[in-house]
Amino acid sequence: MINGIEHIGIAVSDLEKATKKFEKIFEQKPYKEELVNTQNVRTVFFNIGDSNTKIELIGSTNPVSPIAKYLQNNKEGIHHIALNVADIHKEMNRLKSLGIRLLNELPNKGADNKLICFLHPKDTNGVLIEICQEII
Ligand code: CO
Repeated sequence: MINGIEHIGIAVSDLEKATKKFEKIFEQKPYKEELVNTQNVRTVFFNIGDSNTKIELIGSTNPVSPIAKYLQNNKEGIHHIALNVADIHKEMNRLKSLGIRLLNELPNKGADNKLICFLHPKDTNGVLIEICQEII
């Protein structure tokens, strides 16, 4: 079951600058900054008011990072939408049975204490969707 939008991921070329800008826009500091070595990215998470939906700024830490590659072909902007799920394995199987390709066969450890899996954007009308489950 999909439980809502967990966060929206924004790819940025200068994470420090972007963080400062969004601190002003949201009128608050990020609640978390995290290096995700497996993905070669650094992430910054903001809460927005009382909303449960967060904003994730994503910058690359080296040229082999998927975000670095993304920014070679795209402008900065919305990179993915992350959906909260209760049981990621079950959702992966359900989506596979619908013919939606997954970018990884097993859930990966993502930022912010989550298991994550990306869906192939060609199977979701060009939108990169992440499903994520809180690690308890
Ligand atoms: Co994300």
